[in-house]
Amino acid sequence: MNIQIAPSILSADFANLERDLNAISSADMVHVDVMDHHFVPNLTLGEPIVKRICEVTDLPVDVHLMIEDPDRWAPEFAKLGVDSVTFHMGATHAPVRLARQLRDMGVKASFAVRPAESVEPLFDILDEFDMVLVMTVEPGFGGQKFLDNQMGKVRRLRDQITARGLNTRIQVDGGVSAQTAHIVAEAGADVLVAGSAVYGADNPNQAIDDIRQAAQAAFRA
Ligand code: DX5
Ligand code: ZN
Repeated sequence: MNIQIAPSILSADFANLERDLNAISSADMVHVDVMDHHFVPNLTLGEPIVKRICEVTDLPVDVHLMIEDPDRWAPEFAKLGVDSVTFHMGATHAPVRLARQLRDMGVKASFAVRPAESVEPLFDILDEFDMVLVMTVEPGFGGQKFLDNQMGKVRRLRDQITARGLNTRIQVDGGVSAQTAHIVAEAGADVLVAGSAVYGADNPNQAIDDIRQAAQAAFRA
């Protein structure tokens, strides 16, 4: 399976988003963090901006919803031209129903777990999802330190996906850089989100390539 790199625009310049979207042409997708001041202690952007991002970028758009009540709001984001919608275990009431609704709308469904949440409850419903996001920081802010204690979770998830013969992607988000990429890839993650490591670099495309190379060399199939 090929490694995919998803730069997070949380670390981009929000006043120059189109310029910063054009600066990551070597990425596989663009990761858009939606925060609502309730599920996490930060507030970012909503539907009108996600819609414009989809219009100006050629990359698939991956929306990470860190919001309350995704059962109500996630389908609204699925209408905007995005490729995938991720919602959080701690916020949803009916993940299977929501995943099916998103897939029926033609977008990929993805389920996220925070550092204190386990992946085991997901095992029997894994086939309902295209991707599982294992947070490697507490969600809310860019630039936090990578939590390597989440790697057991990534490994157990990879083992389940393999045992069940599924194609579910494993995404990691938080503190991922060219220095930590080998750790997540070795554990079995194949979609790497990176915000500050990409947009904090002088050359974002070079940073993407460095992360990809480090991950590819270490990936556990
Ligand atoms: C944090 C967000 C991340 C964030 C990652 O809650 O979900 O996507 O942008 O930023 P870095 O890569 O700087 O840790
Ligand atoms: Zn994110």
